[in-house]
Amino acid sequence: MAFPATRLRRTRQADWVRRLTRETRPTVDDLVWSMIVHDGDTPRIPITAMPGVERLNIEEAAKAARRAQDLGIPAIAMFPNIDPSKKDETGSEALNPKGLIPEAIRAMKAAAPDVGIICDVALDPFTSHGHDGLIDETGYVLNDETTELLVKQAIVQAEAGADVVAPSDMMDGRIGAIRKGLEAAGHTNTLILSYAAKYASAFYGPYREAVGSATVLKSDKKTYQMDFGNSDEAIREVAMDIEEGADMVMVKPGLPYLDIVQRISKELHVPTLVFHVSGEYAAIQASAQRGWIDEDRAIVEITSAFKRAGASGIITYNADKLAQMLK
Ligand code: PBG
Repeated sequence: MAFPATRLRRTRQADWVRRLTRETRPTVDDLVWSMIVHDGDTPRIPITAMPGVERLNIEEAAKAARRAQDLGIPAIAMFPNIDPSKKDETGSEALNPKGLIPEAIRAMKAAAPDVGIICDVALDPFTSHGHDGLIDETGYVLNDETTELLVKQAIVQAEAGADVVAPSDMMDGRIGAIRKGLEAAGHTNTLILSYAAKYASAFYGPYREAVGSATVLKSDKKTYQMDFGNSDEAIREVAMDIEEGADMVMVKPGLPYLDIVQRISKELHVPTLVFHVSGEYAAIQASAQRGWIDEDRAIVEITSAFKRAGASGIITYNADKLAQMLK
């Protein structure tokens, strides 16, 4: 009887051999915990579009940082929800050295000194119009004027003890400007994680609810975030940001952009993080709640896919859950 010379199913027949021959596996070292903080007194406020994720006040954020440290999660990426009364046209609260983010950094660093703190550099949680920068009378986001503010925002974060500043605004030239500003202010060792390949995406919806920009944002961000038809442009963005001084780069969203993650890591050989964003999180949650998908299995599978594509780190709202499952 004829038989196949090679039977790939042999290495799939039992758990021990599947484990032995597995090519990639995510570990807790790959995780960055995405976290939303708020400036009120209520310890935890649920986010409707992100079941299981809550906005934390500073005290709870410090506790969560401690938990991250205990779980061995390397870093936390923090995003602010500030009181609407503090928002204005220019996002001036972003530069307040006693604002929510600087205070949260100090509290988290005190609670968990071994956990890296990554701060988003962009004005959208602070502006009354919800855009990432300053706008002119037509609503166009002004590049160079915005960059000047982002430099100041990054320095405020570094001064408060942020380990990594992560510009998510997509202005041209901001990485170089921020690097220069940090060096001048003496923050030689503050890392820059550039959201280099950030696409204008439908998957940010729940995040905008989470930081409170959804209701104020009247238009899209297509004049600064990337067009989802493009791949070569992502390579150019990353190459420019590395040239300007970025230490690590990011692809965002995650799952629909695995090809971009793979191209960047293979072609440019730079530490490439991927952001499993709010809309991806919400989609899994929504189907899991209906019993249509097994959440635990889905998130481990997705995390493996990111590793397989070449990601060196994964920013996710599931980090605490994953850290326990990947033990
Ligand atoms: C913008 C910013 C966004 C996210 C973090 N910072 C996207 C946007 O509003 O355009 C999205 C994060 C997520 O969806 O989980 N500065």
